[in-house]
Amino acid sequence: MSQVHSQPRTRLVMGNWKMHGSLAENAALLADLAAGQGRGGATELAVTVPFPYLAQVREALADTPLSWGAQDVSVHERGAYTGEVSAAMLADFGCTWVLCGHSERRALHGESSALVAAKAAAALAAGLTPVVCVGETLSDRDAGDAECVIGDQLEPVLALGAEALSRLVIAYEPVWAIGTGRTASPEQAQAIHALIRAALGKSGAANTRVLYGGSVKATNAAALFAQPDIDGALVGGASLVAEEFLNIAAAVA
Ligand code: 13P
Repeated sequence: MSQVHSQPRTRLVMGNWKMHGSLAENAALLADLAAGQGRGGATELAVTVPFPYLAQVREALADTPLSWGAQDVSVHERGAYTGEVSAAMLADFGCTWVLCGHSERRALHGESSALVAAKAAAALAAGLTPVVCVGETLSDRDAGDAECVIGDQLEPVLALGAEALSRLVIAYEPVWAIGTGRTASPEQAQAIHALIRAALGKSGAANTRVLYGGSVKATNAAALFAQPDIDGALVGGASLVAEEFLNIAAAVA
């Protein structure tokens, strides 16, 4: 159990749409989220969407308490980087958040932990809040290496220092629980969250929020959020269904 609970942390429930959506589908989802967001009480609600939809999301959510962001960012400020999107461009579209180092990007695009930390630094420099994702694979866990893998993933992020750490969010997403319907048990998740909290505490940032992600649904959210070091959720599939996403937020509240 973590010993570090000095200040209450506002709960955060963030949707990661991944590569889903269309203008028409998003319009309906965003309208339902805007209409129902009050069910989350004081919990912050946010969505991270594909780049082409940032303008639509800004338009739909501008007058609501919901915030939005992107799912990746370039490490570069500007220049000849075809296909890349800079942190300043995301800020231009009113983004609050950007996911850095989601396991799908680590696995499918070879993103290293050093690159992920550099992306987080680029995001911070543009005034965005990076949500740095970490998590072990099933084979890491089966080999007893989960803590070691997460420690290695965190290391370059921790090296950004206390001030940077106080302005970002960590998301623990065990790869084996993503999109599989197999959630970490609240105790399994808490054990890793406590480890992350201790590492943050040692780096002078004990109050940085740590979200859990991996098959979060309305039915398992309350038990996860009852854990002392789980400050909210990063939600994939269930964030595409307004009712489900709002019910998760209500479970946190
Ligand atoms: P699922 O909620 O679909 O398991 O996805 C989790 C995730 O990867 C969020 O970033």
